[in-house]
Parts: sequence; structure tokens; C-alpha cells
Amino acid sequence: MITTMKHSEEILERRKRFVPNAIGIFNPSTAVSAKGSIITDADGKEMIDFAGGIGVVNAGHCPVPVVEAIAKQAATMIHCSFNVASYDLYMQLAEKLATLLPHGPQTKVMLTNAGAESVENAIKIARQATGRQAIICYSSAFHGRTMMAMTLTSKVGYKLGCGPFAPEVYRIPFPEYYRYGNGLNLDEFSDIHLRELEEFFHTHVPAEQVAAIIMEPVQGEGGFHVVPKKYLQGLRAICDRYGILLILDEVQSGFGRTGKWAAYQHYDVTPDISTWAKSMGSGMPIGAVIGKAHIMDACKPSTIGGTYPGNPVCCAAALATINYMEQINLNALGEKLGMMVRERFNRMKNKFSAIGDVRGLGAMMAFELVKNKDPFQPDAELCKKLISYCAANGLIVINAGVNGNVIRILSPLVIEENLLNKGLDIIEEGLNMLTK
Ligand SMILES: Cc1ncc(COP(=O)(O)O)c(C=O)c1O
Repeated sequence: MITTMKHSEEILERRKRFVPNAIGIFNPSTAVSAKGSIITDADGKEMIDFAGGIGVVNAGHCPVPVVEAIAKQAATMIHCSFNVASYDLYMQLAEKLATLLPHGPQTKVMLTNAGAESVENAIKIARQATGRQAIICYSSAFHGRTMMAMTLTSKVGYKLGCGPFAPEVYRIPFPEYYRYGNGLNLDEFSDIHLRELEEFFHTHVPAEQVAAIIMEPVQGEGGFHVVPKKYLQGLRAICDRYGILLILDEVQSGFGRTGKWAAYQHYDVTPDISTWAKSMGSGMPIGAVIGKAHIMDACKPSTIGGTYPGNPVCCAAALATINYMEQINLNALGEKLGMMVRERFNRMKNKFSAIGDVRGLGAMMAFELVKNKDPFQPDAELCKKLISYCAANGLIVINAGVNGNVIRILSPLVIEENLLNKGLDIIEEGLNMLTK
């Protein structure tokens, strides 16, 4: 009998031959086209997308106004470099972002190509603005794969053999309640962590030498840990007390994912600087650093910028994306989706002892798989099997967490209710089968 290879298998074979193995395969699926919340694979099979290109297509795959804006701008001017000739699209986008996300009486915006680049620049800006060098970051943090961003990243598996890393970076424990809550309420738990930070200034690095503290309000790759409100508010107060800048990394949590433009808007806290990318451009490579004007203007000429940042086609895509998000009230969709997923995950938690924790903010929802109901016995194996089961049954979903045992939802926020439920059914059937 002659067996023919499926197109998907061929693609994965070719990938093995020509692409370095180290570029991660988070999911065994392939893709040829995508629309809304469906990806069509190389064999013509339609897959429900719960990964959203790693949180990039909050407004859905290929929204019509975004596609049209890209095509129109590509026919007008693809590139000239903002350093060489100023074009209004850059300013339109900067103004839009500063208006939606004011960081103080006057806000300025620098555009970038990606999340890691936003983080790199936020650190350069913070150091120049304060004249200090030290940066504090968190356990389980993920800030990207360029050298400073990787230094700030916590998961050691992402960093093997890549050092030496950047100096003057200090790490403190993220207030991770599931593992370390110990029966305390969230406020008591936050107080302890804030006290430890004050102590850190005496034991590791003096506050007067710290330029910035960088945090994801909801950790993305780290496993969807949500910072407690009292902690973030306390952190803001500590930063103010010592002249330290607060940088909030919203690359994964931004643009409707938590039901607001920024996750920090849930906290009544405003950062000095924030970093953005992913869903801002519906998949076009664009990001931003937003900050208080006097901080952003503290940089010396030519210390920030580049050839491509704020490329006209990407600007057009981002402007069209944000306008579309406003038009369909994406934040409300995110809030609603989050409630539906949380309710369903909580029901699954009651049914499957393998689910140790359900957590998230808005539609940034996840559950953690553990053995023996023990937070310290992560079940990465089950997580991997569940992802494969889902892929074989028409659902693309990816993991998170430093131990790879967290299932996270980053589906387009425009997903139809029947597709959402179908996807959640597949997860539940998978758990049924794999935990029998
Ligand atoms: C919070 C956060 N910051 C930064 C990054 C890096 O973004 P990029 O992959 O666009 O460089 C990511 C990517 O997942 C992220 O989740």
C-alpha cells in the first residue's frame, strides 16, 4: 500500500531540514490561512484558535479594516524611515496611544518593532532619565529574547548557554499566591512581599541606585499569575518614595485582553513607562514605549530609534486595529469572554483533581495542572498530552508557566460563542480521556 504524506507532515519535515531546531514548536499544527478565530491548516482542516498567534490577534485574524489599511498604505509608501523623513501616520498613532493611555499630564510615545525591543528601550530610557543603573525584575517574568530582555526573563530554559547576561539586574519573587499564599488573605500576602522589597534595598541593592522596577501586571509566559491589587499599589508608592521608575510590561496583557486597554487600569495605578506590542497591530510587527513626557525626553539624541520602528504599513495596521477595537468595543468582549471561560474552568476544576488552580484577569485566563493536588508537583506531561489531544481534535492551544504545566487562553476576543464552547468542550474531553 502506498501512503502519501500529508501537506502538514511535509511542512514539518521541511522545517526540520532548514530551520534551527531551537525555534520552539509550541503546537504541532500548521497554517495556511486564518480568519476571525479559525486557522486553516496545510491539509485544509479548520482549527479553532485559542492561541491567537501568542496573544497577537485580540481583534481576530485579518479584520477587514486592518487588511484594507495595510493594502492602501503598502501602495502609498512602505518605508522611508522615520529618522529620515517624518510622516504623519507615526504621529497619529502616537497621539492615539497617548490619548487612550495617558501616563500623566503629558505623555510621549516611541514606536518599536516588537515587545522585546519595547522593553530594551524602556530600560535605556529609565536609566538615562534617572542617571541610575540597577533594574529590579521578578521571578517567572518574561520580557523577550534580546539580551537585556532575556536577562530580565526568569525561565532558565529560555536562557541556557546565552550568557553572560547584562549586569545590574536584580530579581525578586513575584507575589505568586497559588504556591505561596499559605492561607493568608491577598492583602496580608501583599504586605509581606512589599516588606521584603524594602528589605531587599538593604540586602541586595540600595534604592538610590535603582532606575526602575519592571513587572507584568499579569505574567504571560510565566503562567498568568495576576499581581494582587494591594501589591501593585504598594509598589507604586515605594517607587514614588525612592524616585524609582515603575515600568509595566503590557505586551501580552494589553489591548482588550483583560477587558481594558491596559491591565494596569484594573489597579488605579499609572506606570511611568509602559511597553506594548502583540495585539496592537493585529500581527504586523509593531510595538510601543509609552511614558511620561519628561522621562521620555530625558534621553540623549540617537540613543533610541532604528531603521524600521513605526514603519508606515505597520502604523496603518495599528491605527486601523485600534479604531476597529473601539468600534466593536473589544474591551467589553474581553470582559464577557473572560467571565465565560472562568466559569467553565471553575467547573472543570471541580471535576478534575489535576487542575490545581484557575486564575487570570478578564480574558487572560488559565488553569494549572498538578499531580496529587500539590502546587509543587507540576504536571507538564499531562499539559503536553492535552495540547496534542486538542491539536488532533481541531483546537490550537498553548501552554505557559516556568514548568510548562499551565493551559492558557489567548483566543481572539471576537470568537463566536459556539466556537468558544466547542473549543472548551475539546479541552474538557481531553481531560476526561487523559485523566481516566
Ligand atoms: C510580557 C511580554 N513582554 C515581552 C515579550 C516579547 O515580545 P516579542 O516576542 O514581541 O519580542 C513578550 C512575548 O511573549 C511578553 O509576553
